Amino acid sequence: MNFRSSSDVPERKCFSKMNSNTFITDRVVLMGHYAQSVTNSVYFNAPSERHSKAGPADLWEMKRNFQISFLRNIGLKPEHQLLDFGCGTLRGGLPLIQYLNTNNYSGIEVRQDVLAEGILELNESGLTHKNPRLEHVTDLSQHELGVRYDVIWAFSVLIHLEDNVLREVLDFVGRHLSKKGVFYANVNVGTQPDGSWQGFPVVFRNFDFYKAAFERNNLTVSDLGHLQEFGHFHPRLSQEAQECQRMLCAVLR
Ligand SMILES: C[S@@+](CC[C@H](N)C(=O)[O-])C[C@H]1O[C@@H](n2cnc3c(N)ncnc32)[C@H](O)[C@@H]1O
Repeated sequence: MNFRSSSDVPERKCFSKMNSNTFITDRVVLMGHYAQSVTNSVYFNAPSERHSKAGPADLWEMKRNFQISFLRNIGLKPEHQLLDFGCGTLRGGLPLIQYLNTNNYSGIEVRQDVLAEGILELNESGLTHKNPRLEHVTDLSQHELGVRYDVIWAFSVLIHLEDNVLREVLDFVGRHLSKKGVFYANVNVGTQPDGSWQGFPVVFRNFDFYKAAFERNNLTVSDLGHLQEFGHFHPRLSQEAQECQRMLCAVLR
């Protein structure tokens, strides 16, 4: 189901006109860039119960600010086409919609009720003129958005995927990433047993597992570091636990 906020949308550009090396994919370069960090703006003050559908209610603002900040630090510009994979309630999506040019944000989400909250968020924010493309997607294997993205972003999504769903997601990413595009996603690296969250698992896998899974889909992946290094602070997790939260980045081989 397509939740476009307007029906008379101009065709989206299908391929990026970016130069190579537009986005930072190197840990050392990224850490250097963080030293001169991008300033955050204050965004629409959403109700925290809405974003509790996407994570801890008290941390939604930190997790919102983290996302726009990280993406701007890796080099996201308003003219880029971005896909927010598992966009949820637009906790991270809203500042991205504000920042990107009109028509340049797409979000897909598997839970319809959660996406409906995202649409409320969008309507209340006054940003509908940015014309984000918001879609409820249940079968990734059959779904084709017809766009190749400069950046595909999956924040706290891969940590909730069964291994067979991860395969479908990586296939989808491989089909939707532009030749010079980059996929950024965080995972839990470790060997702890799976947990659960809102009907999804919480998975811990070692890096080699992800490396092999990405490679099967023609993606070369690297580990940029733990989320805390990029401004994601979880007050209830130990330092050790936070260091398991890794940011991966991947490009097409
Ligand atoms: C922890 S929430 C994060 C939401 C959003 N990325 C954010 O940071 O605000 C994870 C989201 O991924 C969605 N999700 C999980 N599996 C998915 C799939 N196979 N396709 C699309 N969305 C999925 C969930 O429904 C949930 O809304």
